[in-house]
Amino acid sequence: MNVKELFSLKDKVVLITGGEGKYGSFITAGLGEADARVVTASPFLDDGERVAAELRNKGLDVQARYVDQADHDSIIKLKEQIKQEYSRLDVLVNCAVARPMQTYTSALECWQKSMEINATGLFDITREMADLMAQSGGGTIVNIASMMGMFGPDLSNYEGTDIGTPPPDYFFHKGGMITLTRYLARVLADKNIRVNAVSPGGLIGNQPQRFIENYSKKVPAGRMAKDDDIKGVVVFLASEASAYINGENILMDGGMHA
Ligand SMILES: NC(=O)c1ccc[n+]([C@@H]2O[C@H](COP(=O)([O-])OP(=O)(O)OC[C@H]3O[C@@H](n4cnc5c(N)ncnc54)[C@H](O)[C@@H]3O)[C@@H](O)[C@H]2O)c1
Repeated sequence: MNVKELFSLKDKVVLITGGEGKYGSFITAGLGEADARVVTASPFLDDGERVAAELRNKGLDVQARYVDQADHDSIIKLKEQIKQEYSRLDVLVNCAVARPMQTYTSALECWQKSMEINATGLFDITREMADLMAQSGGGTIVNIASMMGMFGPDLSNYEGTDIGTPPPDYFFHKGGMITLTRYLARVLADKNIRVNAVSPGGLIGNQPQRFIENYSKKVPAGRMAKDDDIKGVVVFLASEASAYINGENILMDGGMHA
């Protein structure tokens, strides 16, 4: 196959959770630019619709739908909607994350809330959407994990800022997501579904300037991640270009851990 065809997502139906978020909106754009038919789903339908409308104005095929991945009924409803509207699902990108814990000392209830969305909910939506994918002949799952699922926190990044100790639930869930990726790669193989993960580093945003400086000087690339950094790796793992890659986790940290 021609290499452009290998990377193309033409006519592929792609569901991305949290596709209106910070990394999510760049990934949604990248999937659309690769000619996928994209559905972005989250509990914040107005935000999803705003991002989808902006991308439709650029000629991309993006629709926003509701889902709360802590709510099983809403997952089933979304599954039925996709089945009715598209008749198939080819790609799932698990990009949603909730951050109920702010820091190490946050209340235990925040950890429990995090488990509902980031652990139970992640598995629930993945199993249901994998079932839909299997009904239409298979597909690919791309889990957006984090370098924080691979390494402990570098507390020196926060020196001179008012950011506290990073929350423990995030490290727990991102590490779990990488292990779940390997589990699912084997368990879903007979359904013709491949499962891979990307572990990005920090995305440049409105962090304190001191944090950006502390962080950037540890990265061979000399900077935090930006919009275009995430698009290619997700399209690669979603597409036929990665047909012989399964259960892998790609660290996307600008060389920080080289
Ligand atoms: N921002 C970073 O620097 C960074 C670094 C590494 C990895 N990541 C990963 O990238 C992904 C996106 O992170 P982000 O920083 O862009 O986050 P974000 O907060 O901007 O987006 C998270 C998304 O999750 C969705 N969400 C929250 N609760 C939900 C629920 N109950 N059901 C369904 N969707 C829900 C929200 O709608 C939101 O769009 C996450 O998986 C995160 O772990 C982010």
